[in-house]
Amino acid sequence: MVVGLSLPAPLVAADDTARDWSPAELRMLRSLQLGNLKPVPPDPSNRFADDPRAAALGERIFFDTRFSDNGAVACATCHRPEKYFTDGLPLSKGIGETKRGAPSLIGTAYSPWLYWDGRRDSHWAQALVPLETPVEHGLDRRRVLGVIAEDPDYRAAYEEIFGSLPGETDDEDPINRAFANVGKALAAFQRGFLPAPARFDAYVKALGEGGGDAEPDLSPDEITGLKLFISETTECTRCHNGPLFTNFGFHNIGLIRLQRGVRSYDVGRVRGVKQALQDPFRCDGPYSDAGAGQCEELEFVRTWGVEISGAFKVPTLRNIAETAPYMHDGRFRSLREVLEHYREAPGGALGHQELNPLELTDLQLDQIAAFLGTLTGPAPAARPDASKSAPR
Ligand code: HEC
Ligand code: HEC
Repeated sequence: MVVGLSLPAPLVAADDTARDWSPAELRMLRSLQLGNLKPVPPDPSNRFADDPRAAALGERIFFDTRFSDNGAVACATCHRPEKYFTDGLPLSKGIGETKRGAPSLIGTAYSPWLYWDGRRDSHWAQALVPLETPVEHGLDRRRVLGVIAEDPDYRAAYEEIFGSLPGETDDEDPINRAFANVGKALAAFQRGFLPAPARFDAYVKALGEGGGDAEPDLSPDEITGLKLFISETTECTRCHNGPLFTNFGFHNIGLIRLQRGVRSYDVGRVRGVKQALQDPFRCDGPYSDAGAGQCEELEFVRTWGVEISGAFKVPTLRNIAETAPYMHDGRFRSLREVLEHYREAPGGALGHQELNPLELTDLQLDQIAAFLGTLTGPAPAARPDASKSAPR
C-alpha cells in the first residue's frame, strides 16, 4: 500500500492532437520504435540457440500433439501463432486447466526470465516445464524422449544435432541431458518469434523523415493516447519501455486482493525466483552450456524483499489489442478494463503496490486504448496440427 501519495500533475488537454512533439517526446518515440530493437542477445547457456537444424526440430515439436499424454496437446494448443502465440483464454487449457494465462511469446528471446513470475532463467529450461506438467502435456522426460526415439525422422534429426539418444538406462544424467536438448531445440525455434512493424512504427519513422505534408498514419485520438502513454502523468513507460514496450522487470501493480476464505495467494516473483534458483536446468547448472561468469542474471538476482512480493513480469504491449484477456490470470477482458485498473490503482494485499491513481477521463482511457491498437503488426501464419502431417 502506498500511503500519503500526492495526486498527479494535470494532463495534457484532451483535444491536444498536435503533431508537434517536443524533443524529449521525440526521443521517447524513437526509443519505442521497432527499428530500435537490437539483435536477439546471445544465449551462452544454449550452444544450439542459433543452429537452424535445432530450430527446425524445435518447430516440429512445438506443433506436434504426440508430445502429450492424451495425444491432443502441443505447445501450439496454448500458443497459437495466429493469436501471437496466445490462446484467448483467461486460464489456459491443456489436459487440464492451468493457474495462469498464456502470455504472447513474441520477443521472449529478449527476456532474461521466463514466466509471469520468472521461475526459469532460460528459454530452454522453460520449455521443459509444460511437457512434464500434468495439466499441460502430462508426460515425463523419458516419454518425451520415447516419442523422438520411436520416430525415425525425429531420431535422425535429433542425433544429427546432439549425438546419439540415450538407450535404456536407469541413470538419470544422460536422460536429463537429452531432455535438456529437446528444450534447447524448442528455444532455438522460439528465438525467431519477433514482432513485425506496426502502424505506430510507420508513424514514428515518418516523423523522423520530416513527415513532409504526408498525413500521419495515426488518428487524432490515437495520437492523443500516445501522448498520454508517454507522459509523466501516466508513467506507463516507466515499465513498458523500449521497442518491446517492456523493461522485463517484475513489478507490483496491486492485482492481488485479499479474499474471504482464500488462504493462498499467487505471490509472483518472490516465489518464482526461489524456483529458478532450485532448477537443475538453470544457467549455472550441469546441463547448461554457459561458462564461468556467463550467468550474470542469476548471479546478481534479487531474491528477497517487499518489492518482489506480488510482483509479476512486465509483458510486452506489442499486438496487445489482439491478445485479450489480460494480466497473469486473464482477469480483464478488454483494454478498457485494464486502463480502469490503472486509473483507480487499488492497493494490493501483498507487498508494495507501485502505481499512483491517475486523473483520467473516460475519453482519455479510450484514447490510450486506441493508441495501444496501433501496436498491432501482422500475425504469424496459422499452422496445421503437426501430428497429422508428421511423417511416420
Ligand atoms: C496448457 C497450455 C500450455 C501449453 C501446452 C504450453 N504452454 Fe507455454 N505457457 C502457458 C501458460 C499459462 C504460461 C504462463 C504460466 C506462468 O507464467 O506461470 C506459459 C508460458 C510460456 C512461456 C513464457 C513466456 C514469458 O513471457 O515468460 C514460454 C516461452 C512458453 N510458455 C513456451 C511454451 C512451449 C515451448 C511449450 C511446449 C513445450 C508450451 N509453452 C506449452 C500455457 C501453455
Ligand atoms: C510499475 C510498472 C508498470 C506501470 C507504470 C504500468 N504497467 Fe502495465 N503492466 C505492468 C505489469 C507488471 C503487468 C502484468 C501484471 C500481471 O499480469 O500480474 C502489466 C500489464 C499491462 C497490460 C496487460 C498486458 C497483458 O498481456 O496481459 C497492459 C495493456 C498494460 N500493462 C498497459 C499499461 C498502461 C497503458 C500503463 C500506463 C497507464 C501501464 N501499463 C503502466 C507494469 C506496469
